[in-house]
Amino acid sequence: MIHLHLTAIVLAVILFIITYNSVDTPDGQSTYSKPLHMVLRLIYLIVIFTGLMMFLDFGSGNQMMYGLKFLAGLISIGLMEMALVRQRKSGTGRTMVIILTVFLIVTIALGIYLPAGPLSALFS
Ligand code: HEM
Repeated sequence: MIHLHLTAIVLAVILFIITYNSVDTPDGQSTYSKPLHMVLRLIYLIVIFTGLMMFLDFGSGNQMMYGLKFLAGLISIGLMEMALVRQRKSGTGRTMVIILTVFLIVTIALGIYLPAGPLSALFS
């Protein structure tokens, strides 16, 4: 489950960067930015589903940190969506991208701090 979580996150970040930059054209958007955005939304669902399953599996131990991880993960995904929608509508997604970067770092740090997974193993 955690490998699927990590694979989906890597895919989501790569797709986010490509989609964000494909929206950012002089005529507003390129022809492929909409489909890319749809695929990205599908990947959000995989991240949320795998995260939720692990949360239900292991979350009873360190409840506060698991709660924060859950929240930070959901906020990160919300910020990705907001950055893309703002960029598409008015070209003002940059602030959201900066906040998103901070949240991604916090979420990844929390994920590594929590005990399961290959990244945590690298640091133990
Ligand atoms: C873009 C959003 C997200 C990012 C960048 C992210 C990142 C990570 C990372 C890096 C790990 C650690 C993997 C490892 O140690 O090998 C992890 C684990 C985990 N994530 Fe996420 N995650 C996100 C979204 C979510 C969401 C939405 C949820 C809950 C619904 C969630 C719940 C969890 C749980 C429960 C773990 C296992 C923690 C443990 O027991 O060690 N994540 N995540």
